[in-house]
Amino acid sequence: CGIIAYCGHRPAAPVILEGLKRLEYRGYDSAGLAVPQGGALRVVRKPGKLAELEKAVPEAGNIMNATHGMGHTRWATHGSPSERNAHPHLDCKGSLALVHNGIIENYQEIKTDLAAKGYTFSSDTDSEVLANLIAEGLTHKASVPEAISWALSRAEGAYAIVVMHKDHPGQIWGARQTSPLVMGLGVGEIFLASDIPAFLPYTREVVFLEDGELVQMDAGSWKVMDAATLAPVEKQTHTITWDVQSAQKGGYKHFMLKEIFEQPRVIHDCLLGRVDHATNEVSLPELDAMPVPKRLHIVACGTSFHAGLWGKQLIESWAKVPVNVEIASEFRYRQPILEPEDMVLAISQSGETIDTLAGLRLAKEQGVKVVGLCNVVGSTIARESNYVVYTQAGPEISVASTKAMCSQLTLLTLLALYWSRRKGLMADDERKKAMRGLLGLPEVLEASLPAMRDKARFLARTYSEAKSFFYLGRGLCYPLALEGALKLKEISYIHAEGYASGEMKHGPIALVDPKFPTFALALNDALYPKVKSNLIEVQARGGKIIALTHPGLDLSVDHPWLLPEVWGPLNAFLALPALQLFAYEVADYLGKDVDQPRNLAKSVTVE
Ligand code: G6P
Repeated sequence: CGIIAYCGHRPAAPVILEGLKRLEYRGYDSAGLAVPQGGALRVVRKPGKLAELEKAVPEAGNIMNATHGMGHTRWATHGSPSERNAHPHLDCKGSLALVHNGIIENYQEIKTDLAAKGYTFSSDTDSEVLANLIAEGLTHKASVPEAISWALSRAEGAYAIVVMHKDHPGQIWGARQTSPLVMGLGVGEIFLASDIPAFLPYTREVVFLEDGELVQMDAGSWKVMDAATLAPVEKQTHTITWDVQSAQKGGYKHFMLKEIFEQPRVIHDCLLGRVDHATNEVSLPELDAMPVPKRLHIVACGTSFHAGLWGKQLIESWAKVPVNVEIASEFRYRQPILEPEDMVLAISQSGETIDTLAGLRLAKEQGVKVVGLCNVVGSTIARESNYVVYTQAGPEISVASTKAMCSQLTLLTLLALYWSRRKGLMADDERKKAMRGLLGLPEVLEASLPAMRDKARFLARTYSEAKSFFYLGRGLCYPLALEGALKLKEISYIHAEGYASGEMKHGPIALVDPKFPTFALALNDALYPKVKSNLIEVQARGGKIIALTHPGLDLSVDHPWLLPEVWGPLNAFLALPALQLFAYEVADYLGKDVDQPRNLAKSVTVE
């Protein structure tokens, strides 16, 4: 989602609308703004693209007189993209307005407490709960920052918030925990936004807020405080040298690169609200009402299909649910045998892929329930599914999917653990080991990405002349090999084939020669000795090999690429970005249009 707030001397509404436009890449399913007006707060919100809000604002009375205000463009994580769920949210007495990015994990508990005290709610969002919690704080705290501090000490999760109060029309407050918030300092005007492009045409002087900080600002002054103690915090000012376009990419050359580097966050966000921190157990409340399927049919396309192939192995081994994974365009035209207790899992980042949607409809026609695993809230697949779990990965802009797959793998791991728990199958210790591993992944990945990129860049230069590549893996690495090959094809236009390495001897190995390199996944798992023998066969035919592997393994190839080793199946979360970065660096080195490759579309809504 995107936030912008303004305190200054210009009419606030146009500044906010323009700022939101520059943040639209962060989310675009609904938008809204709030300004002080005649002792109250005036809120305008519209579902749909920002253009809808732009149309509504001039009609909304004398909003244009306000020189303070805030706006939000939403990318839903809970609740459908509708007007009532759009931000800003008012507390039930209309005294304060709040915009929020992120997820308040314990909002249900807070909502129940507040409801018991007489608070009422008009949306399905966690954000409105937070607005009311701050209002509750104001019933016993003397100032708005004290009330915000009190409320935040009760809220668990990730957030960036901005708050306005009707009795303080010139002031704005903001606070963050995990979600970004940055202040822009102009002359007689101050901005607060989730990202720099929002205000870059007005100022290049910025102050980054850190987790646990709270800021109070008006047109001419600001102060940053510790959100818990309200003690002042010294801040440094930075000068931004980027233009708007590269700022939207967070300073990265391409959205694809930015999205690859977002993956530690994506795992973290996908886990939000899904781990019971007291017991370290998985929780997927979205699916509690649904029986564990007797058999599962995963239906998906492209990268989402590869995520499904990977997920099958965990669901089968941990939850003992037989899984059939199928390309949606095949499934929809077969006569698949679907039994009443079966379930279809439709995996789709966009939630709009026509073949996946057709698979879903076919299943429903046959009386089989469908679970949607989607990123875009309120998308067609999400709406038509009987149950839906969201990956919470945020908008993916690059056509080649990267972070979406990372979030799908995270959710599929959770799903396997969840069903195994419900069936009482996996030992508690083992499941907790998996959960601990998942929770630790963002940190390991974050620390590994810079070196991974350097290695990818070096290898890309070494291998960029190749006309064809094999990608080989076995077991859990086989779907990753397919994905590695798909990424290389999609963006560099180099021919690449993903194979189960044991299958090479049945034909493909005939193609191997010194000019036909292989990218192998030889990680430390039970199948490692088998993969190693397959690679020796490739080397015997003069084939060059890059191999993702782990320290301490006795692999002898042209270019071993060592990854840090984590627990069991979770090693996929480190191999995946290495594959993505290699494809990215090759494509970039060859001067290809990385974010918008020829002939491809982000969301394929026609057959
Ligand atoms: C298109 C995209 C792919 C994506 C596939 C499935 O082909 O270019 O990156 O994997 O659609 O998309 P979905 O939104 O259903 O996951």
